[in-house]
Formats: sequence, C-alpha cells, structure tokens
Amino acid sequence: MTTLERRAASESAMEALGAAWARAFAHLGLVTLRGPLGAGKTTLVRGLLRGLGHEGAVKSPTFTLVEPYALAGVTVNHFDLYRLKDPEELEFLGPRDYLRKGALCVVEWPERAGAFLPMPDVEVIIQIQDGERLLQLISRSPRGEAALSGLP
Ligand SMILES: Nc1ncnc2c1ncn2[C@@H]1O[C@H](COP(=O)(O)OP(=O)(O)O)[C@@H](O)[C@H]1O
Ligand SMILES: [Mg+2]
Repeated sequence: MTTLERRAASESAMEALGAAWARAFAHLGLVTLRGPLGAGKTTLVRGLLRGLGHEGAVKSPTFTLVEPYALAGVTVNHFDLYRLKDPEELEFLGPRDYLRKGALCVVEWPERAGAFLPMPDVEVIIQIQDGERLLQLISRSPRGEAALSGLP
C-alpha cells in the first residue's frame, strides 16, 4: 500500500493536479474522493476530465447522482452520492454495470454507498488546511499501486 501527499493552494492548482493524474487514473476501475463539502472534489474531477480531453462543462451530478463522459479512449462515470439517502437506492443506478464496462468510475461521497461499492483502486482524501487543500492518495489494489508510482 502506497500513500502519497500533495498540496493544492488554489482552485487552478487543484485542477492542474487532476489533469496531471488523468493518464495514470484512466486505466483504473474505481477512484473514491472523500472530504467535506467544499473540499475540492468536483474541482479535482474537472481537472481529470480536462486532462482526458473533455472541453465542456463539468458540474456536480448532485441530483442525477451520476454523469457519464464518453471521451477518446475512455469513459469516465462521475458519481456524486451526497444526496443518496439509503445505500440501497444505488441499486437502481446499476452501479455494477458502470463498474464493469472497463470505464473509470470517480465517486464523491463513497461513504454514502455503504457496502454497495467494491474496494477502490485509489482512495483520495482531501482536507482543508488554512485555506489550502491537503490531498492523501492511498492505493487499495495492485492497479492502484501501479498508478501511484511515478505520479507527479
Ligand atoms: N485547492 C483549493 N484551494 C482553494 N480553493 C479550492 C481548491 N480546490 C477547490 N477550491 C474551491 O472550493 C470550492 C468548492 O469546490 P468543489 O470542487 O465544488 O468541492 P466539493 O466537490 O468537494 O464539494 C470551489 O469554490 C473551488 O473554487
Ligand atoms: Mg462536489
């Protein structure tokens, strides 16, 4: 298991981190993002999507719970489970279909899913510290471990 720490002092620094990690994360199945409201989870996903060539808007799928992005070479499913009231509601989205299709699933508020999500490849934990963001990346699978090696 590898743990990396990074800092981002601004929204643009956060986006730049996401973009810099995009290629390494594109081959993973599941990346979870933990952190309080306003931590910068969606900002990081926006950077990730930009890094994979997405040029349009990226907004939090707060009400739809999931937004798929079909990009060149990879599909990214961006989940925001903040409004999930009961983990069982997730079954109606068919999470296993999203996870099975060789796509990358990036999930904000994974804790809302209870046991309905498998172990992620990489877990990202964001803390707010003096206006800055401290990011911890933890590998939870061999693929995740490989993705974290050599990450900027
Ligand atoms: N590294 C950062 N430093 C300072 N502000 C940030 C950083 N990352 C994001 N922000 C700001 O924090 C706010 C919330 O970001 P958002 O990505 O929506 O958070 P979350 O999805 O975790 O709720 C936005 O206004 C964004 O500009
Ligand atoms: Mg968000």
